[in-house]
Amino acid sequence: MAKYLVPASLLLSQSMAAATLFDSYVSLSFELIGFPTFAGTKSQPNAFSHNLMQNLADLQGSGIVTRIGGNSGDRAIYDATLTTSTASSCPNADPGAWQCIGKTFFESYGAFPAGTRYSHQFNLGAYNSSGWNTLQTTVPLACKALAGQLEFWEVGNEPDLFTGSRRPSSYSASQYADEWLNTTQHFESYLRAACPELSGSVKYIAPSLSSPGARLHIADIFPDEGNATEKITQVSVHNYMNGATVPGVTLQNTLMSHTAVVNSINNHVNYAKTSTIDADYIIGEHNSLYGGGASGLSDVFGAALWAMEFSLYAASTGVIKRIHFHQSVGSPYAAWVPSGTLATNAPYYGKLAASTFLAHSNTIEVKTIALNKDADKDSGYGAYINGDLRRVAVLNLRQYNAGSGTRGSQTYTVKVAPNSSWKSQRLTAAGATDKTGVTYNGFSYDADSNGLAKRVSGKESDKVIKADGSGNLTFSVQNSEAIVLLKV
Ligand SMILES: *[C@@H]1O[C@H](CO)[C@@H](O)[C@H](O)[C@H]1NC(C)=O
Ligand SMILES: *[C@@H]1O[C@H](CO)[C@@H](O)[C@H](O)[C@H]1NC(C)=O
Ligand SMILES: *[C@@H]1O[C@H](CO)[C@@H](O)[C@H](O)[C@H]1NC(C)=O
Ligand SMILES: *[C@@H]1O[C@H](CO)[C@@H](O)[C@H](O)[C@H]1NC(C)=O
Ligand SMILES: *[C@@H]1O[C@H](CO)[C@@H](O)[C@H](O)[C@H]1NC(C)=O
Repeated sequence: MAKYLVPASLLLSQSMAAATLFDSYVSLSFELIGFPTFAGTKSQPNAFSHNLMQNLADLQGSGIVTRIGGNSGDRAIYDATLTTSTASSCPNADPGAWQCIGKTFFESYGAFPAGTRYSHQFNLGAYNSSGWNTLQTTVPLACKALAGQLEFWEVGNEPDLFTGSRRPSSYSASQYADEWLNTTQHFESYLRAACPELSGSVKYIAPSLSSPGARLHIADIFPDEGNATEKITQVSVHNYMNGATVPGVTLQNTLMSHTAVVNSINNHVNYAKTSTIDADYIIGEHNSLYGGGASGLSDVFGAALWAMEFSLYAASTGVIKRIHFHQSVGSPYAAWVPSGTLATNAPYYGKLAASTFLAHSNTIEVKTIALNKDADKDSGYGAYINGDLRRVAVLNLRQYNAGSGTRGSQTYTVKVAPNSSWKSQRLTAAGATDKTGVTYNGFSYDADSNGLAKRVSGKESDKVIKADGSGNLTFSVQNSEAIVLLKV
């Protein structure tokens, strides 16, 4: 609690507040039911996913923290007779189940690259005999699969949205708290029996609310800090910029907008101040537009720029310690298509750019850079190591669509060390609405190279530019393009 007693405005103005981000700042979340499709199994990993995960880990210097959960985690009922990892029904276990998992589901843990750290979410949505049986029977499977690669546990997803479907409309914060406490107590007793070596260091993320505006509030759920919450090591709240089918949502105003990103993230910075839990704050699940994203908005190059902008601004707050981009099979906002016709989607490239700028995130401090241009469409960031400006990022968020006349550009000057040299890496594509042909630093990471870096001829890569004797570093960025500059 102590760390949020200071007003956020003051926190943000103090460099110490921003000091410690978590490592692997750009992390992921996978919808539980689609996780086996993304990952494959430990013995037969999905090689395409493996490569794409490894790229992000290599750039950041540590394995991706991979949260497995979401809406389907609150639906999944365990059926010991299932021979598949997942199923849409399992009459042997529960004729009313919406989604089901079998024993082989847990063989997917460990299929992503070595160094990946996982969390598994248990079902709180089905608070009945089959949900409880699922908890009891899956704790041993989950804890054995996760030993050595466990980051934290999670119980339930977006409980504020249970009302009207899983729970009566009167469902309250204290009822949810009772259910959460009861479930974690049972979980811990099953864990002690099945994996005693893990039971001494239980860590949870909670309360996994759908947004800072959720109708259940942290302060009402966990009004005081007793031993009930001491194992919550990360306060997790979710975020979406808006909804996929909400009227008025546009690429320029909803995603390619610094103002929209600032407003969305500042809701979390303010919410963190209301937290009664003495724990760091993360955005445990987020993406562009809820409902899986919208085709034409969430899957285009403009959404790659948004992913980069969102990551960098969140890091600059110092309050949000890590973010988890949510993935589900076939959704427009997914970073890649893991089965059928494999494809790397445009948003993946935004994560590459963000991972480059935020590399070794637990050692850097991120600040916004005033560019003295359009406050909404020109966005600048600096990454500092021990006070030394080492990386610069600038996004030109003006929407340009390929084929719509001449593409404009902006020239920027940023103050850096006199005469210093910088390697420039561009996040670019033909235009904001393109879904393919995206490159980062002159490389593609598409299905034709199984997600591995492939040089694209004619695209700039690691071009070195120099600051002048007074420290002016001048460069231009096309409309709908971003640049990362790395001090040589
Ligand atoms: C438990 O609840 C879930 C919905 O939350 C439902 O699908 C399932 O059929 C229920 N099972 C029993 C045994 O009531
Ligand atoms: C607590 O959870 C257990 C199973 O995990 C269930 O059997 C019990 O009925 C629950 N108690 C309450 C008060 O909800
Ligand atoms: C929580 O604290 C209370 C009071 O200090 C104590 O009686 C209880 O055993 C503790 N519970 C756990 C699970 O540690
Ligand atoms: C920058 O380079 C110029 C030209 O080589 C040199 O005259 C000047 O002293 C240098 N400035 C600094 C601060 O190193
Ligand atoms: C370059 O730096 C000098 C000295 O700091 C400043 O006066 C000048 O305006 C800068 N040039 C540009 C293009 O920003």
